[in-house]
Amino acid sequence: MKLSERLSSIAPSMTLQITAKAKELKAKGEDVISFGAGEPDFDTPQYIKQAAIDALNKGMTKYTVASGMVELKEAIVAKFKNDNKIEYSANQIIVSCGAKHSLFNAFQAILNEGDEVIIPAPYWLSYPEMVKCAGGVPIYLETKMENGFKLDVSDLKKAITPRTKALIINSPSNPTGGVYEEDELLEIANVVKNYNIFVVSDEIYEKLVYDDFKFTSIASLDDEIKKHTITVNGLSKAYSMTGWRLGYLACDANVAKVIAAYQSHSTSNPTSFAQYGGLAALTQTDTSEIDAMRVSFEKRRNIMYDIISSMKKITAFKPTGAFYMFCDISATGMKAMEFASKLLTEAKVAVIPGESFGSDKHIRLSFATSEKNIKNGLARISDWIGK
Ligand SMILES: Cc1ncc(COP(=O)(O)O)c(C=O)c1O
Repeated sequence: MKLSERLSSIAPSMTLQITAKAKELKAKGEDVISFGAGEPDFDTPQYIKQAAIDALNKGMTKYTVASGMVELKEAIVAKFKNDNKIEYSANQIIVSCGAKHSLFNAFQAILNEGDEVIIPAPYWLSYPEMVKCAGGVPIYLETKMENGFKLDVSDLKKAITPRTKALIINSPSNPTGGVYEEDELLEIANVVKNYNIFVVSDEIYEKLVYDDFKFTSIASLDDEIKKHTITVNGLSKAYSMTGWRLGYLACDANVAKVIAAYQSHSTSNPTSFAQYGGLAALTQTDTSEIDAMRVSFEKRRNIMYDIISSMKKITAFKPTGAFYMFCDISATGMKAMEFASKLLTEAKVAVIPGESFGSDKHIRLSFATSEKNIKNGLARISDWIGK
């Protein structure tokens, strides 16, 4: 029987495939060190877990408002105000099952068949597939390591056509860890306003920034850019809550209305007691546990960067945010996929090949793993490259 033409070109998530392969080898007793993780290796803080347990015990086991509980939306409004200096109201917030779901909803809401979405490359691998799921066309805009993997505004202007509907900005970026400064966002915002397109700003790694970097939300720059922006964030990375599936977006009230209706016919509300966990996370004033995770990621980043910088044939980009190191391996003469699969079978080290992110010259190493794993895993890579 003929299946959906629109979905026939959708590729499964390659990062999940590689981490699954590494897990399979581990289950067989192989001593695999994995740099594949796309999630913090810390447990969710106890106060968050307790809030969900309490909610369960109190019988909060029913449907909530499909677009998220009112209390949680209010907490998100306060978060945007305090952390990002953006004034949203509760009717502009939609809570979903992870930022991935929020992004998916956003593209469903804004795209018509054939609409183009500009995606700076390297990109998080789900963006193009989500755009295609919504009938859109991904348009890739190459960025370079020497420019911090940031898009060039004149390239951006050239890429805009009458079919352009949106631009995706992901700062800090997965896979590069690159970040945009406020003045760079201002330039991008001007283009977005002039050409009257949307900007989908994925800010999921906002809290994981290093070297005292000051994070800026593009929607905070002025009222007009705010109207053009769909700001996406979530609990997964900052609060170590990947399995809870909680994300949210904020946007113009008319767009939010469309997304709320769409979600009400698809998933309905995110899990009720998970939302209580999210509420506890966002309203906790003592941020010491969250801060400690960030400090630990920064330390691991430094260790990983120093070791890779001393290695031959592999050049790391020093990330200012997120927990990934994007490394150029073209000097080995191998394409990323070949490099990653040989490294896994021969040296038992899992890395994510850059083809998943739009580059066959790079691999992505996650430093969301212990210092011991970082040191041992990199020693194996170094020995293997030496051979
Ligand atoms: C850039 C980026 N955006 C969004 C997500 C989705 O996060 P979640 O759906 O867990 O909230 C991820 C997860 O890997 C990511 O790396």
